[in-house]
Formats: sequence, structure tokens, C-alpha cells
Amino acid sequence: MKNIIITGGAGFIGSHVVRLFVNKYPDYHIINLDKLTYAGNLANLKDIEDKPNYTFVKADICDFDTILELMQKYNVDGVIHLAAESHVDRSIKDPFTFAKTNVIGTLSMLQAARCYWESLPEKYEGKRFYHISTDEVYGALEMTHPEGIEPPFTTTASSGEHHLAYGEEFFYETTKYNPHSPYSASKASSDHFVRAFHDTYGMPTIVTNCSNNYGPYQFPEKLIPLFINNIRNRKPLPVYGKGENVRDWLYVIDHARAIDTIFHDGKIAETYNIGGFNEWKNIDLIKVLIKTVDKALGNPEGSSEELITYVTDRAGHDLRYAIDSSKLKNELGWEPSLQFEEGIEKTVAWYLENQEWMDNITSGEYENYYKDMYANR
Ligand code: NAD
Ligand code: DAU
Repeated sequence: MKNIIITGGAGFIGSHVVRLFVNKYPDYHIINLDKLTYAGNLANLKDIEDKPNYTFVKADICDFDTILELMQKYNVDGVIHLAAESHVDRSIKDPFTFAKTNVIGTLSMLQAARCYWESLPEKYEGKRFYHISTDEVYGALEMTHPEGIEPPFTTTASSGEHHLAYGEEFFYETTKYNPHSPYSASKASSDHFVRAFHDTYGMPTIVTNCSNNYGPYQFPEKLIPLFINNIRNRKPLPVYGKGENVRDWLYVIDHARAIDTIFHDGKIAETYNIGGFNEWKNIDLIKVLIKTVDKALGNPEGSSEELITYVTDRAGHDLRYAIDSSKLKNELGWEPSLQFEEGIEKTVAWYLENQEWMDNITSGEYENYYKDMYANR
């Protein structure tokens, strides 16, 4: 029996990780530790909430005493740490909350794990602290080929096709940290604390840095669910700047699969980059999204392009992210399983079929956030 705390399990990625572990490992006890901030939603886990190997605990990762008590109560062997403030635009408005949750919260998880594990006769034997981070810590890459070039690797996605890259440079595990937003600065800081706990106390840690995720249950402040919902409701689609920024998109279930592989087989003290080998300029992605939603809703193809509204750019907007995840493929055999077009079709279908989930979130408090966020753009 393994007892694993997954933090942030009621959020977007965390809920997929919890679901995968609860279903795949009936002999593990999965403890989902989540504060249920605006981004946490237990409706994301309705299908597994009654499973005997699943426990939900409402707690704040900054609350060291409670976390230590939980470690002792559940004899925790492993931590998969996803809880964080995750939205860049919110970090620009409210950087303190990001420093508190992402830096102090991670430190309090580390310190609680350390106090508990060091109190055991076996100490760190068989234990693991796995920290989930982002490619944004590396900063931004240049766009040396605005029209796109064939990437210097072949993607292993199901169809075997590969997509364009917009420059020769990629983020590697060895790339120097250079965060630009309060969000990425807070994640970078938390990554440093995790590595420091390995180097100083010998804690068995692993860090992964992943690219942009998309798929079911993503909070609709993020580009893809926001735009699907706005197309459906005939609302403007606020494209930041010229829509030229490039992101590397990965289907969330492929990220959860990578987390499973790395948690079990990853080497202690290593870093692994996780990415989709799937770069898209925002505006090109938005056009694919519009085409897919229009088709699903029976609108004339591309008719929702009239909703595109160019708005003031995000402050400090990173131009291009592109992950090289060859290390993960070569050492642990992980690769993305879905082509982007297939992933987008599944994603659009999910949001349109789960309108109640969306309506529950977009009514009430979120409505005020949305109005406020876009009022002056
Ligand atoms: P999310 O915002 O959807 O979910 C975050 C979860 O953390 C929520 O359930 C929230 O209630 C919980 N939480 C927040 N503060 C907490 C606290 N103080 N105590 C306990 N729980 C708290 O985030 P996400 O998009 O699922 O991202 C999860 C993790 O993955 C984050 O660490 C993020 O930095 C990282 N990441 C995200 C992406 C992406 O594209 N979304 C890509 C790479 C890495
Ligand atoms: O790269 C990984 C990161 O991806 C994660 O660490 C973050 O938690 C996650 O939020 C995501 O960050 P981004 O800022 O890239 O995601 P977002 O969906 O906010 O924006 C994607 C791109 O679309 C970005 O270039 C900004 C742009 N955008 C976004 C919104 C919300 C718009 O043009 N209009 C919008 O309304």
C-alpha cells in the first residue's frame, strides 16, 4: 500500500492526475489535498469521489501544522505537488498571493515532508517528493523563423506527423532560468526550494517543467476554454497584442501520463521537460478553434472569426515557448499520444457537452472577475 498526497487535485491538471492514480492503482491510497480556491472544483472528480482508495481533504498548503498532521495521520510515502496559483494575468494584478501560495506553500509542503520522513526509522527510503512546474520559468525564446521551420526532431504523436517550430532554440532541462511574470518568478522560486531540499537534506525530489496544457476541466480564464465559451455565447474573443505569441500545447491526459511515468520511474534529483512538440501561434490556434466550434454548433465554417477582437497586450508577454522533451522520451519512453487537431476536437466536444459545468463556474463571482479583467483592454 502506498499513501500519496496529491496537492491541487481539485484543479485542472490535478483532477486528471487524481483520476488516473485512483483508477490505475487500486492498492494506493490517494489523498487529494486542496484549499478549493476559485480554481478548485470538486465537480471535476464526481466520477471517482466514492472510490475506496480516495480521500479528499480541504487544507491550505501554507498551513504547515495541518500538513504535518496529515503526513503523520496517513503515513504518507509520496507527494505529487500541483497546488498553485496558475494564471499569469492574475499574477500581474496580485503578485503577493502568488508568492504566498507558490513559494511559501511549496516550502511548507517540503518542510512538513522533511519533518515527517526524518522522524521515521527508514527516513527517506522509498519516499518521493515530486514537484510539478512550468516551462515559463525558462523565460521566452526568440522567433527566428516567423513562418516556421521543420523542428529538428520527429514527434511521435499517433499520426507520426510533426508540426512547425518557430525558431531553432528550445527549452532544455539545462536552460537557465529567466522568469518574466510574477507567476513564473514564483514557480522558479519554488523549483529552487525543491532542489535545495534535495541538496541540503537529501530529500528524494523530482521536478518537471511542462508546456501549456489543454483539455477538459480547465478553468475558463485560460485561452482555450474561454474562447470556446465565448464563441458559443457570441461574445468577443480578446486576442492579446497581434496574436503572434507561440505556445507549445499538450493534451492534459498526456501530461497526467507523464506524471505517472516520472513518479514511478524518474530518477531522484532529476529534472524532466514535458512538452507536446506542438507549437502554435495564438492566432492560428484560435482559427482552428473557431473552425472546430463552428462545425460542432452547425454555424457556417469560420463565421465566428468576426468575434476576434485585438486587445492591449499582456504586460511582459513572453513571445515563444517550445519544450524539447527528448530526455523524457529517450530515458523513460514517454511521448504525447494525441495529434493536436484530434485533441482540440475532443476538447471542444467536451466543453459543449458539459455546459452545466461551465455555467456553474461562469456565473457569480467569476462574472465580476471577467468584466474587471477585460474592462480596460
Ligand atoms: P489550477 O489553477 O487549475 O488548479 C490549482 C489548484 O490548486 C486548485 O484546485 C486550487 O484550489 C488549488 N490551490 C491553490 N492554492 C492552494 C493552496 N494554498 N492550498 C491548497 N490548494 C490550493 O492549476 P492547473 O492549471 O491545474 O496547474 C496545476 C499545476 O501545474 C500548477 O503548479 C501549475 O503551475 C502547473 N502547470 C500548469 C500548466 C497549465 O498549462 N495549466 C502547465 C505547466 C505546469
Ligand atoms: O506554459 C505553461 C503555462 O501555460 C502554465 O504554467 C500556466 O499555468 C498556464 O496558465 C499557461 O500560461 P499561458 O499564459 O501561456 O496561458 P493562457 O491560456 O493564459 O494564454 C495562452 C496564450 O493566449 C498567451 O500567449 C496569452 C494569450 N491569451 C490569453 C487569454 C486568456 C489571449 O490572447 N487572450 C486571452 O484572453
